[in-house]
Amino acid sequence: MQQLVIGAGSAIAKALIQQNLNQGDSIIAVSRQAGSLEESSAGSRLQRLQCDYTESSIDAVCAELRESGIVFDRVTICNGILHHEGLSPEKRLENTSVAPLETVMRINAFVPLMWVKALKPLLKLNGKPCVITALSARVGSIGDNESGGWYAYRASKAALNMLLKTAALEYRREAKLVQFLLFHPGSTDSPLSKPFQKNISPTKLFTPEFVARQLTRLQGDLRPDLPIQFLDWQGKRVEW
Ligand SMILES: NC(=O)c1ccc[n+]([C@@H]2O[C@H](COP(=O)([O-])OP(=O)(O)OC[C@H]3O[C@@H](n4cnc5c(N)ncnc54)[C@H](OP(=O)(O)O)[C@@H]3O)[C@@H](O)[C@H]2O)c1
Repeated sequence: MQQLVIGAGSAIAKALIQQNLNQGDSIIAVSRQAGSLEESSAGSRLQRLQCDYTESSIDAVCAELRESGIVFDRVTICNGILHHEGLSPEKRLENTSVAPLETVMRINAFVPLMWVKALKPLLKLNGKPCVITALSARVGSIGDNESGGWYAYRASKAALNMLLKTAALEYRREAKLVQFLLFHPGSTDSPLSKPFQKNISPTKLFTPEFVARQLTRLQGDLRPDLPIQFLDWQGKRVEW
């Protein structure tokens, strides 16, 4: 299988890449850092591309991919932040302000949309089924929001879901072989969750390897012709 993994420096992405390389897949891994992946047994089946996630940089990567004529079976977009230099999830309205809201929204929602936009010409000509997955989060569910807080992260994942649901409708008309999945991995041991792990019972904190296996299984089980799905790691539907 030929895969494209975007945000390849993420803990979940690294596990996904390693497992899929072990299964014999070929992977193009896109990340801000060129040297963040273990390449020991990968040989030429792992190719890394650097991207700073500006629109021009995303377009340049997609032009290179188009030029190469590669046909993709899976595209997985892993980018997402919860905390950042000088930015932490807001507990109260008083903690919200525009600059951090804009930053989180850009990275978590707009960057994935720009990938889906830039990949469309390439995936229209793909010639075989392809699953596009974006890493979402249950806290982006509007219906499920009972506890509040985390304004920017919640809003950015809700926006991601809406943007990709809208894009999926357009793809359905123009790139019929593409299937969309919004995936909630559950609480996973990664730099993103590190500062918040003390409130999570160890049995509910998954390893990136476990989550990557669940995701691979779900991607394989996805029935063609279904509308975009918002599923958790068990394959259960998450309320929009
Ligand atoms: N861990 C959890 O408990 C949990 C729960 C629910 C949902 N998720 C979602 O799962 C996904 C992967 O998270 P993870 O837990 O593996 O986190 P992680 O290891 O902290 O990965 C962070 C990801 O965000 C990207 N990123 C960081 N700063 C960025 C920036 N300035 N611009 C663009 N991209 C940037 C990184 O891309 P590079 O490859 O370029 O570094 C990387 O893909 C995220 O979308 C997250 O929201 C995680």
